[in-house]
Amino acid sequence: MINQTKYILPVIAIFDSGTGGLSIYNKIKKYIPCAKYIYIFDNAEFPYGKKSKTFILNRIVKIITKIHKMHKIDLTILACNTASIIALSYLKNKLLNPIIGVIPEISTALNYTKNKVIGFLGTSITINHFSLFELELSGVKIIKLDAHKLILLSEEKILRNHISYKLVQNCLISFLQNSPIPDTIILGCTHLSYLIPEIIKSFPEKIKLIDSRKKIKDQSCLLLSNILKNKPVVNNISGIAYCTKLIFSKKLRNILKSYNFQTLKKININYNHINCI
Ligand code: DGL
Repeated sequence: MINQTKYILPVIAIFDSGTGGLSIYNKIKKYIPCAKYIYIFDNAEFPYGKKSKTFILNRIVKIITKIHKMHKIDLTILACNTASIIALSYLKNKLLNPIIGVIPEISTALNYTKNKVIGFLGTSITINHFSLFELELSGVKIIKLDAHKLILLSEEKILRNHISYKLVQNCLISFLQNSPIPDTIILGCTHLSYLIPEIIKSFPEKIKLIDSRKKIKDQSCLLLSNILKNKPVVNNISGIAYCTKLIFSKKLRNILKSYNFQTLKKININYNHINCI
């Protein structure tokens, strides 16, 4: 029997405001099955998109610092574009072990667009962070769209397993009314990976969707390659999920279990205190 303690297997902490980061976890876990995963989500303050940057930075720094005091973490992943934009460079200077984060893949989208019209979805913080003036001068039109409603629909879909594509289509109206319609869409928010079928169905023609899952998976594999070389191959190590607000939904608890987060704990960042729930 293999000892599964955190000192033997690499420990990967994945952070998001909600459940969107599970899409990143899913991708990475396929390539790095022999690791202990910790999923942290700030459900008390979800969604982040409309909150102030200072507020979000403070929260993320407190949560990540606290998790690092509780576990020896080999790699921290900000599986939230908004969090990465606000807190990644700050935390890189603060943590001893590597931290990486998802960032919208604007340059990848440029390689795919044929009609030179790109749609850019993300929280208002994410889409406004990038000045795309130079790209526009080079003849590429980028239509930014605040994905706030889509992010809420994504959480709803995870809980209900289904969402009408018409609801998603309504949110994409500014893309669909543009002439020409964008042929490439940047998914600048991790929640949107859960809405891929509905987004595709909303468009009259085939579109290319660009998300950051492959890039962050490649970065993770590279950063952990040394540690992983000498580890035993072991699958299905149960992970721990931390939330910041008590969860009453049995469905959500079961969803976390289906992702192999058998333990769910509440982390209280204000009072330095952890409750098992
Ligand atoms: N998943 C987050 C992101 O990638 C956004 C969700 C939120 O608004 O909190 O930006």
